Amino acid sequence: MATIYIDEDIGKDEPTQQGTEASPYKTVQFAYLQHPGEAQYLTRKSASADDEAAKEWKPAAKSALKKAVNYFEQQKKKAAREQELAIQRKKEEEERNKILEEAKKLSIEEDTSLPAPTKIKLDEVGDHVKLRNAKDPESKGTRVRVLGRVHRERKQKDVLFVTLRDGYGYMQVVISGKLAKTYDALTLTRETSMEIYGEMFEVPAGAHAPLNRELHADFYKINKEWKAAGGEEAITNRVAAGADPSVLMDLRHLTLRGENASAVMIVRDAVEFAFHTAYKETRLRKVSPPALVQTQVEGGATLFKFDYYGEPAFLTQSSQLYLETCLPSMGDVYCIEKSFRAEKSLTRRHLSEYTHIEAELDYINFDDLLSHLEHIICRVLELSMADPVIAGHIKTLNPEFKMPERPFKRMKYSDAIQWLVEHNIPNEEGQPHSFGDDIAEAAERRMTDIINRPIFLTHFPAEIKAFYMLRDKEDPRVTESVDCLMPGVGEIVGGSMRLDDYEQLMAACKREGLNPTDYYWYFDQRKYGSSPHGGYGLGLERFLAWLCKQHTVRDCCLYPRYMGRCTP
Ligand code: 4AD
Repeated sequence: MATIYIDEDIGKDEPTQQGTEASPYKTVQFAYLQHPGEAQYLTRKSASADDEAAKEWKPAAKSALKKAVNYFEQQKKKAAREQELAIQRKKEEEERNKILEEAKKLSIEEDTSLPAPTKIKLDEVGDHVKLRNAKDPESKGTRVRVLGRVHRERKQKDVLFVTLRDGYGYMQVVISGKLAKTYDALTLTRETSMEIYGEMFEVPAGAHAPLNRELHADFYKINKEWKAAGGEEAITNRVAAGADPSVLMDLRHLTLRGENASAVMIVRDAVEFAFHTAYKETRLRKVSPPALVQTQVEGGATLFKFDYYGEPAFLTQSSQLYLETCLPSMGDVYCIEKSFRAEKSLTRRHLSEYTHIEAELDYINFDDLLSHLEHIICRVLELSMADPVIAGHIKTLNPEFKMPERPFKRMKYSDAIQWLVEHNIPNEEGQPHSFGDDIAEAAERRMTDIINRPIFLTHFPAEIKAFYMLRDKEDPRVTESVDCLMPGVGEIVGGSMRLDDYEQLMAACKREGLNPTDYYWYFDQRKYGSSPHGGYGLGLERFLAWLCKQHTVRDCCLYPRYMGRCTP
């Protein structure tokens, strides 16, 4: 039996120590773990003790030794348990491997005596997809063939329940008997593509499944290349809920497969189509202005500049000026194109590239512009909600969604300033708002959230708005301009009547420091038969953030671009 030395000052709790006088440990607990049940354990404080006696080797205190023994026993038990578990795991793995080896020998084939299947998408309903009621021996379901990816899977006893996804819908599939015992079934991973054949059933009472139906598989195929990665690499490990947002953005191509993201994208498709429909109904014609331009529209601070064959050029901030040039030849026009803004801040409503829905209307006044805008917004919502699938997605994403009340609340900028003062909402400097302030994002959103309905905020001072805006005849300090504000998001539309007078436009251009010669084509609109006209731009992602109650516009576009992100 040995003597083990512990020096609380210069000892080290490392396995390389020997526990001798020359190589002591630091704590009794560690010493005991390394050398349990030895003759004696001597401790000392070689450096820090006040009296010389404490610097001598002395038997470890009983309490310290008892604690060390208890700890040692606990560790021993834990190690034994772990060993047992490891053995059990190994046994299970061996058993599983045996089952998998057996399963490899199992092959399935289609029963050709069954009726020929009808190929359907997962959301297809109607007389060509009859459902069997399991309790009614007379009833028969259609035999179908479906293709999709495994969205979810769960094993219950010997039955495999798969939720299949094909972008159109989700379908519950019940795989049982021999079909659930194949190698493919036992190693099935999420996102694997499958081709499944079987009969359509009503779901049993009390159970839930998409469209209240399920497919009872009689055969399926999984091609080798259709299998999705599993284990560590499984999709659920890569895009786990609650993961760092920047990781999720890097994996946007995978997060798009999720229910939330795909629902937003499906609503987006419907909304974009509804804009086209609403514009056609209102007799606006679609045009496609260029994205590569040499003029700015909304100020130099957010211009993306690039070299165009040796000349300076920009990515367009807005197609407005080009839309204006179409009025004389085409009447009212619209476009749905990308706009680009080199926004230097990372807010939840700014993108560097966004989808801009812009319209320009000829021979109108400011009231006409507001009425048209209100009509288009409401008509787009009406058209979108008329599709039950889209209405369903919107209800899931935004359960409180209600059609906005008409007419929209109209509020002059000067009244908004008054409102902000009365509600003690300060400006960015922390001071009460005053006429001429640019209402900052936070204040605007607070006001919109409190008022809690769409607002047309109008008549902004000329100084804080773009050069092309027409002044109000009654109050030349302000312009005939409008921002449409929505609860939760704030501004989704910016629009105005346009300066139609050549001289006034020239003066405004110069005031802004713009070179009129670059805008010769824009000025020609005032030279060759001007007209009272106006228009607006609506940010599709902001509209969707409001409609689908998304925290940020980034979740409302396919692959968002913002400062610091241009991938994937
Ligand atoms: O208010 P803005 O800058 O107006 C214009 O560009 C006008 N020339 C449009 C026109 O009259 N034809 O932008 C219009 C809308 C905003 O209300 C907002 O919805 C969206 O475009 N928007 C942005 N969306 C996402 N990210 C950004 N960085 C955006 N900047 C503007």
